[in-house]
Amino acid sequence: MDSGLAGKSPRPGMTTNVWQSMPDKFDITLNINGRDYAVRAEARRTLVDVIRDDCGLTGTHIGCEHGICGACTVILDDEAVRACLMFAVQAQGKKIRTVEGLANGDTLHPIQQAFIDHHGLQCGFCTPGFLMLAVNVLERQPDISDEEILDVLASNLCRCTGYQNIIKAVRAAAAEMRKGAT
Ligand code: FES
Ligand code: FES
Repeated sequence: MDSGLAGKSPRPGMTTNVWQSMPDKFDITLNINGRDYAVRAEARRTLVDVIRDDCGLTGTHIGCEHGICGACTVILDDEAVRACLMFAVQAQGKKIRTVEGLANGDTLHPIQQAFIDHHGLQCGFCTPGFLMLAVNVLERQPDISDEEILDVLASNLCRCTGYQNIIKAVRAAAAEMRKGAT
């Protein structure tokens, strides 16, 4: 297909075509769960791919790769994001949190404990995404209502649980986290 760029000269004053001068790979540092990971990544690589393949943190899952399912949800500077919709290079300089950063040693985060207590998972494929989504909203909005929790959770997909136990788990974690904050 003709891109319309073939045979075009560099802009006046430019000695090299801009496409030729673009590096194939970029050296970036990703701060994940408080630790720096130095990686070399092509500009086209998604954040979730680099987190999993280059940083070895495979707790973040890949489902649809289209921003629909939420399996790849991570927290980026206090905001839950779909890591399949971002390039890794865009995350440089930001603080990334993944499911591996939730527990404190052997002590599970209240949201993890609540998923166990309320049977909020079956196969577990969607679980890291739900955990990060829930933690983010409960930290930002500790007094969130039960109805608002429903709205938030509607953004992620689970093929197994029928959602009821996920909802129960998040409501229980919300209560637990509020207790811990007082
Ligand atoms: Fe990112 Fe589905 S894998 S939203
Ligand atoms: Fe299997 Fe949610 S527990 S997809």
